[in-house]
Amino acid sequence: MHDACLESEMKLLVFSVICTFLHVSGQNPKGRWSLLPNVLVLEVDGSLGQQPLACLSPTDKMLRRDNKSEDIFWKKNGVDQAQRGNSYLVQLEESLGGGEYTCYSKNGSLLNHTMVLIQEDETKRRKILVKTDQDDYLTCSAQNYDGEFHCSWTWHSSRVGKVAFIKARRVSDHNYTQCSVDASGQNWTCSSGQSKISCSVDGSGHRISCRDEQHCPYAEESKQIHITVYVRTEHFLLENYSKHFFLSQIVKPDKVRISQVNTSLIEWSYPSSWSSPYSYFPLTFQLALLRGRCRRCANPCSDSKVTKILTIHSTDVCQYEVKHKVKAVCVRAKDALCNSQWSEWSRWSQVPPKFYSSVISDGDKGAKRGRKNRQKHRKRA
Ligand SMILES: *[C@@H]1O[C@H](CO)[C@@H](O)[C@H](O)[C@H]1NC(C)=O
Ligand SMILES: *[C@@H]1O[C@H](CO)[C@@H](O)[C@H](O)[C@H]1NC(C)=O
Ligand SMILES: *[C@@H]1O[C@H](CO)[C@@H](O)[C@H](O)[C@H]1NC(C)=O
Ligand SMILES: *[C@@H]1O[C@H](CO)[C@@H](O)[C@H](O)[C@H]1NC(C)=O
Ligand SMILES: *[C@@H]1O[C@H](CO)[C@@H](O)[C@H](O)[C@H]1NC(C)=O
Ligand SMILES: *[C@@H]1O[C@H](CO)[C@@H](O)[C@H](O)[C@H]1NC(C)=O
Ligand SMILES: *[C@@H]1O[C@H](CO)[C@@H](O)[C@H](O)[C@H]1NC(C)=O
Repeated sequence: MHDACLESEMKLLVFSVICTFLHVSGQNPKGRWSLLPNVLVLEVDGSLGQQPLACLSPTDKMLRRDNKSEDIFWKKNGVDQAQRGNSYLVQLEESLGGGEYTCYSKNGSLLNHTMVLIQEDETKRRKILVKTDQDDYLTCSAQNYDGEFHCSWTWHSSRVGKVAFIKARRVSDHNYTQCSVDASGQNWTCSSGQSKISCSVDGSGHRISCRDEQHCPYAEESKQIHITVYVRTEHFLLENYSKHFFLSQIVKPDKVRISQVNTSLIEWSYPSSWSSPYSYFPLTFQLALLRGRCRRCANPCSDSKVTKILTIHSTDVCQYEVKHKVKAVCVRAKDALCNSQWSEWSRWSQVPPKFYSSVISDGDKGAKRGRKNRQKHRKRA
């Protein structure tokens, strides 16, 4: 009988421990962490909640000397608040509660400031960015293998946003990555044991340019780049968007420049931004011969009637003799060794009809040599 009693007491105890636990896990905010000095992120579930902010740390000499914390007053986004004292309770509800909180002494001098950002914890639905045509939020590309890349995004039409934080690293860096921003708020640097990547936000506000400072163009990449962009709205809502890739997966050459040699001969060469030597970084070119005119097409190279597609491997300047019936020629390029993106098309169109011949392609041997070299290199890496 005694044992049974004890047992039921135990059950009660376990029950109340579980209740306490449930109560704690039902609290809002669910979590809080510091994104940058003076920037606090609150992970909220949408329910009512409170988060205290301290103006001065308890050890601050002004607090200790005067011990008049009731003289401290607060503003939220520049608007006076009724709450007084060293501690301020931020009221949370749905995605509200974020803002710039400032505290002042009696005489009006600024004592401290904290930006509170709200991260919704059950956001199946993203609110700040919209997906691009590639079915992703971030679109990243590199012009070459030199270690620079760009990522861009599209803001949701009803929101005005800003970059709040950028984290970029080679993904298998297990070591802690530390990121910081300079005084301009535009240039970020992330360092860890094995990588250093710096990123800057373009003036447009929807694109960043990054550089892997330790990248070696001639070596195989063994680890992916992992980039996370934290964006916030003017209402202090925070979301993060990530992407990871090898540079070889996102490389996209710039447009080739086509020039006219004489009345029937055109030529083009590697984009000046492409990595050299070209025998090590060969490109494949694609030519589309267009017979029809397509003056009103938005994209004449892809919308027009293509009569023939030619593929040319070359590590040098390419020339092509244009036949009489061909009204226009479009050329694009891509890395010959990786299945990455084609460049945008470049277009040349026939002005007066002239004399014609057939394809000229040179430098093919060079391309094969380059490919072999790089593949050999890859196996070794
Ligand atoms: C100002 O607030 C931050 C938190 O946002 C705190 O870490 C810091 O100690 C405060 N500064 C002073 C002078 O109390
Ligand atoms: C400051 O005031 C509080 C009560 O308002 C008191 O508990 C505390 O001991 C005081 N501290 C100092 C350093 O005087
Ligand atoms: C305002 O008060 C603070 C501390 O309470 C003091 O450090 C500062 O010098 C004062 N400023 C003025 C303009 O009186
Ligand atoms: C970083 O990671 C390497 C292994 O990848 C390890 O040897 C090293 O101790 C780590 N450094 C720190 C500071 O964690
Ligand atoms: C930020 O980075 C850009 C591009 O790397 C550079 O042109 C600019 O001078 C940098 N700004 C500052 C303040 O360092
Ligand atoms: C990124 O956002 C997701 C919600 O979309 C969140 O669950 C996750 O904790 C965030 N990651 C970081 C590091 O803040
Ligand atoms: C154009 O130049 C090429 C190479 O220099 C030459 O073979 C061809 O005859 C020239 N064609 C005309 C029409 O001048």
